[in-house]
Amino acid sequence: MAKIEVTKTELVWPGKYNEDGTLKEVPRISLPFQVIETVNESRATREAKKEREKAPTLFDIYEGNEGDTFEEGWRNKLIWGDNLLVMGSLLEKFAGKIDLIYIDPPFATGADFAFKTEVGESGEEITKEQSALEEKAYRDTWGSGISSYLEMVRIRLSLMRDLLSPKGSIYVHLDATVGHYVKALMDEVFGVDSFQREVVWRIGWISGYKSVAKNWIRNHDTILFYVKTPGDFTFNKEYVPYPPGYERRGGAESGGKGYPIEDVWNANPFEFELKGEESLDSIQIKSFSQEKTGYATQKNESVLGRILRASSNEGDVVADFFCGSGTTLAVAEKLGRRWIGCDLGRWAIHVTRKRLLGIENCKPFEVLNLGKYERQYWQGVTFGETEGQVAHRAGTLRVPRFHPQAIRRTAGGGYDAPARQEGKGHDPHRRGGRAGDHRRDRCGGGRVCCPQADRTPRPRLGVGDGSL
Ligand SMILES: C[S@@+](CC[C@H](N)C(=O)[O-])C[C@H]1O[C@@H](n2cnc3c(N)ncnc32)[C@H](O)[C@@H]1O
Repeated sequence: MAKIEVTKTELVWPGKYNEDGTLKEVPRISLPFQVIETVNESRATREAKKEREKAPTLFDIYEGNEGDTFEEGWRNKLIWGDNLLVMGSLLEKFAGKIDLIYIDPPFATGADFAFKTEVGESGEEITKEQSALEEKAYRDTWGSGISSYLEMVRIRLSLMRDLLSPKGSIYVHLDATVGHYVKALMDEVFGVDSFQREVVWRIGWISGYKSVAKNWIRNHDTILFYVKTPGDFTFNKEYVPYPPGYERRGGAESGGKGYPIEDVWNANPFEFELKGEESLDSIQIKSFSQEKTGYATQKNESVLGRILRASSNEGDVVADFFCGSGTTLAVAEKLGRRWIGCDLGRWAIHVTRKRLLGIENCKPFEVLNLGKYERQYWQGVTFGETEGQVAHRAGTLRVPRFHPQAIRRTAGGGYDAPARQEGKGHDPHRRGGRAGDHRRDRCGGGRVCCPQADRTPRPRLGVGDGSL
């Protein structure tokens, strides 16, 4: 193995670097989205659309040509699939366009991929089995312990950085088991200067088995807040209202907006006054909350509300690529933000869809997936095909706008950004092509049609730590 030259402080794990000392590339794969369903669309819009697209298809291909505002026809998006492929496929339209990303990635082995839920009125609990996709994601995440976890997070954070708008922010929800590792990774991906705050969220009162631990009682999560451009990012200062009758020290009446929020949440007397849905106590300890979906790792709307109000404005695009029960999307919907959510669990998508439909005047949204292309892609990677072979077999190769070239260290100790290629030349699968084009596989993987794919020797995709 080539010697890795250490030029800066960074976190290294087995499998982070290739044999030749280059950093494992971030796969930026672009596959076509299928529209499974458009939810809450008015009948008139549906009819007009049918008229425009006379040829009926089983699933429409997402063309990405709706406008950028609700008035221009923008539709929010709930995407079912592995966020690695989903984010890669979003780059073409959304690179530099997402204003706020919140993620709550799995950080406790197992619990984030399987969960218990109640059935009907009986109160009986069932444990949901994992699907093949969830099992695969679980292996990618924890197959080699912390090494595979960090590789999973690193490549996804890099894609999120590419998707964030210049004034954009990212919040990553973690706990003490992995928070310190991920902070070092975020410094590497976003830059040390992009770090803003480590929010400590006190989960709430303690009871039951938790209180008998022979230790200090664990009672907080951490939320890391980074921005794309240090010194130029959206931030609307938030306050907790003073309780009625509140007087300042010395008896003076308070004229201010309230108590300016600190980076420790749910831990001061003003916040203890917040009741019901406003309370910042974890949803898991609020027995009768209307918000409860039964999703084991669900987070509070009150916590997400703070983040969205502070770091986005009405009409901005907010995304959550590990959306679970859809808390971020529900809050974005209520606050008039545009949103994109993704999860690989079928149940997560089901719960989120149902939750959104329960919101009064929920705007129309699309449910998308990568359909057979995702399955074919993973089959190919599992059996060791190159990206070109996999994409051709799936019949979907596009000239990628972001080339998956190895990212090399620069003399200054940073990394070269991957070369950005504006899609030049002939590309039969570009936006604007119809569903049938993909099915018929117009280029059929031919050398003349997609020369780049066949002539450029492509490195194997470094997915996870190679444990596949
Ligand atoms: C901790 S939960 C998120 C809970 C969410 N914040 C909520 O309020 O419900 C993590 C979610 O990430 C999803 N997930 C894990 N790996 C994923 C991947 N590679 N792509 C998409 N979703 C993934 C899991 O299915 C799970 O729903």
